[in-house]
Amino acid sequence: MNPMRISRALWLGFGFGLGSLLTGCNTPSTSVPSVSPTSQSTPAVVKPADLAPTAWQDKLLSPDQRAELLLRAMTQEEKLTLVTGYFGVQSEWNKYQFKEARRQSAGFVPGIPRLGFTPQWQTDAGSGVATQREAPPELERTALPSGILTASTWNPPLAEKGGAMIGSEARSSGFNVMLAGGVNLMREPGNGRNFEYGGEDPLLAGIMVGALVRGIQSNHIVATVKHYALNNQETGRDRVNVSIDESAARISDLLAFQIAIEQGDPGSIMCSYNLVNGAYACQNDWLLNQVLKRDWGYHGYVMTDWGAQHDTVLNANNGLDQETGVVETGKYVWLDKLAGAIRDSKVPQARLDDMVRRIARTLIAKGAVDDPVKLGPIDFAAHASVTQADAEDGIVLLKNKGVLPLAETDKRIALIGGHADVGVLSGGGSAQVYAPGGNAVPGLGPKGWPGPIVYMRSSPLTALQSELPKASIAWTSGSDLKSASTAAAQADIAIVFATQWTTESVDFPLTLPDDQDQLIAAVARANKRTIVVLETGGPVLMPWLDQVAGVVEAWYLGSQGGPAIARVLSGAVNPSGHLPVTFPRGLEQLPRAKSAGVDTPDGTRFEVRYDEGAAVGYRWYAKKGLKPLFPFGHGLSYTTFTQSKLAARVEGGELKVSFTVNNTGRRSGKSVAQVYVSPEAGGWEAPKRLGAFAKVDLAPGASQALTLTVEPRLLANYEPGRQAFRIAPGAYRVTLATSAIDADQSVSVTLPERVIAPK
Ligand code: BGC
Repeated sequence: MNPMRISRALWLGFGFGLGSLLTGCNTPSTSVPSVSPTSQSTPAVVKPADLAPTAWQDKLLSPDQRAELLLRAMTQEEKLTLVTGYFGVQSEWNKYQFKEARRQSAGFVPGIPRLGFTPQWQTDAGSGVATQREAPPELERTALPSGILTASTWNPPLAEKGGAMIGSEARSSGFNVMLAGGVNLMREPGNGRNFEYGGEDPLLAGIMVGALVRGIQSNHIVATVKHYALNNQETGRDRVNVSIDESAARISDLLAFQIAIEQGDPGSIMCSYNLVNGAYACQNDWLLNQVLKRDWGYHGYVMTDWGAQHDTVLNANNGLDQETGVVETGKYVWLDKLAGAIRDSKVPQARLDDMVRRIARTLIAKGAVDDPVKLGPIDFAAHASVTQADAEDGIVLLKNKGVLPLAETDKRIALIGGHADVGVLSGGGSAQVYAPGGNAVPGLGPKGWPGPIVYMRSSPLTALQSELPKASIAWTSGSDLKSASTAAAQADIAIVFATQWTTESVDFPLTLPDDQDQLIAAVARANKRTIVVLETGGPVLMPWLDQVAGVVEAWYLGSQGGPAIARVLSGAVNPSGHLPVTFPRGLEQLPRAKSAGVDTPDGTRFEVRYDEGAAVGYRWYAKKGLKPLFPFGHGLSYTTFTQSKLAARVEGGELKVSFTVNNTGRRSGKSVAQVYVSPEAGGWEAPKRLGAFAKVDLAPGASQALTLTVEPRLLANYEPGRQAFRIAPGAYRVTLATSAIDADQSVSVTLPERVIAPK
């Protein structure tokens, strides 16, 4: 494990002297371009002489035209202002405490009052409006479940609703940029940030995160997809060089970003701390200029992760558009040095203009300019039902030997461990949301960054008691094995809540901490009807699996976690979450048993080679013939489903897959149909890829016919020589399944050759 960092300031590092703060040449432009109108009511050409400095505010012009006019009206200093972002916290280590910055926020970019251009107020993250905790009190805001839970819903409309909800809270809290949309693939199950992301598969992660982004931006604010790219471990995140083959990256990690961007159209992208193939991600010409901006045609702006800027000239010329997290002068590339680099012709003026155009155009296009954010009331009751619906849809029932849902005969229920009397766990770091009521279990975890450990004040015990008023439910802390075993032995059923806190900046072992494995084993010995509820950020090992009767993966449940888990246990909600990641049986199954670089001293660069290429997660297990503990896509229900009548055909150049899903049980329930594809001749990184999926809600006895389109890039390989994806002609197997290893049926289909340009 990495040493915990004491504060964000230490981690960013301090600089020196005010130096050349914005001493660039103030050169207001004298010539104004011809601007073509978007609507027929505007004049064909806007004449320079007619233009006031506020001409850009004309809403009849397109965002491109308005950004151009704004740019032309700006001084060099104003341009530099727009591309420089400061840390938003009020703490002694932050030398730039703007009075307009929102309290304890991630970031602030001053506006241009002379021209009426908005400041940028930036907040984290994917589960809601987070608070940087340097100076409490924290903002209390609704917390969605963790990203990995939302991915477990396989339900894009729900992710979009969640995004719309947190985006509206960002707006009402005065933020117009939400640093949300984490889509790094899970390559390392121990990555401390897996909870923020969308799992291990590019299609599922891209679609789910894209939907979240769409929801956030429906509030006329900007969302930021992050951390671009290949930032898959926290150990040495700012000094690890990730080596990967281009075609492998294009069909795995980069494809997840590409799909999320297509689905969500995020206004900005955050480049990551790590190096990729020898160059820092924020000054990586290949990642930024070639892949993102050229191949994917990305028109938004690229901002650094906080402090991920390194070299003024390389950052600027290789595609960065905004630096963030400035707390002092010295190391910062725009604030101190960009004006000079332009004067010295090391960075073209056109590059700064392009940065400004991108930022201005995006804020205009997303509505953040014409519909300015303002502080306002939040409907916490309505938002509670949004987060609860998400949590209820994403809880995954992993194992059930006749113990769930809880029965009327379960009169005495022993609840053990996990602070289940008062709350549910959340993940730490910059994504930390403080939910209404504050931390239910104060005093745990690191005192400084990235702590503390925060439990949302939403009690599973109280919620279960109100679900099951006739049952007698008692909670035992689990700190003493003997009293836990006694409580379990005297109950009809025992439910152990086992937790693992994970957080940004640290990677974690896959073993539950604090001897919870021993606790579970002891409870299971005392009562055969033992259920384990896991609150974890990612997969964990389960040495006790055969001894327990039920396992539920509840992830980090968000601010309505208590009722959500209680309703799944009681049966009021039929579980329908499916794993977006593979749970390994043991470390020996992983491409890397531990994160690279764990033993390297701070400050030294090290390398991680992704020799597994695009064979990430279930693809790796399929390639190696490994049987995981729980496969990607797995999730049980209280009802039963069948999938039948599978057919595949090529129509309009697309592969269409039809089938019928039937609820054959006695309860309503949601099924997740998964379509995997494989070339019969081989030639991929692994035997199969997820090509399409759908979640269907069915009443008992009901059935639904579905036709899904397979994402064509998942039928292809990326060919760097052509700069395109190519589907090889030939026979492909289409498999309808309920997980990556549980196939219902398959058919063969012949596909013609197809070349797909990256955009
Ligand atoms: C994280 C980002 C976050 C930023 C601002 C960094 O530590 O990596 O995800 O948006 O801080 O808080």
